[in-house]
Amino acid sequence: MRLDKFLCACGCGTRSEVKKDIRAGLVTVNGEKALQPERQINEEKDCVCHRGKSCVYEKYVYYMLHKPAGVLSATEDARERTALDLLGEDRREGIFPVGRLDKDAEGLLLLTDDGALAHELTSPARHVEKEYECLLARPFDETQREKLESGVDIGEKHLTRPAVVRILGEKRITLTVTEGRFHQVKRMLHAVGNEVVYLKRLRMGTLVLDEGLPAGSYRRLTAEETESLRK
Ligand code: URA
Repeated sequence: MRLDKFLCACGCGTRSEVKKDIRAGLVTVNGEKALQPERQINEEKDCVCHRGKSCVYEKYVYYMLHKPAGVLSATEDARERTALDLLGEDRREGIFPVGRLDKDAEGLLLLTDDGALAHELTSPARHVEKEYECLLARPFDETQREKLESGVDIGEKHLTRPAVVRILGEKRITLTVTEGRFHQVKRMLHAVGNEVVYLKRLRMGTLVLDEGLPAGSYRRLTAEETESLRK
């Protein structure tokens, strides 16, 4: 396996970060500096150290993507740019977005090849919280809050589960829902007589969008973030 690919699989950083570290002399193979990202290593026999720490191969990868508007939360599409396209060199077989986020919405999107964790996070039985920031077309009021917090009719068999509202301004709220129905937040606001004009996912379960991450960029999850999602 290529050295840069191996370091990514060990959670040492994104492909471009580890390439930089290799060229800066921060990586050794069997005790000797390795300066070429394309160098081949034997992942079972060679002892690779990154910044003085021995590297342990990780089975799955986890990326937090700040999805920009205009990008599909899909793995591939014939015409449109997808979340996976944004991974560039870090893209590898088996990675997919966890849960959907509309093309015109932005914010937190988890990308992983860990199917079991993705299932836990999206299973309707788990009621994992998703928190969204919404800019609204009209002023938000107490009647709308009460309806959203007790469950609204969005034209399906069941009312939505009670949501949690945080008011941030006259036309700005956060809404936390525990389901993942199609266009759920937009349809909930529409059902109470308002409209969402901008939508951003801030959180999924314990995973909070890193505000230091500009739209269109991504980073590896920390060990603590992955651990906490698994709980
Ligand atoms: N609700 C929506 O309406 N859109 C999303 O992308 C996510 C939740």
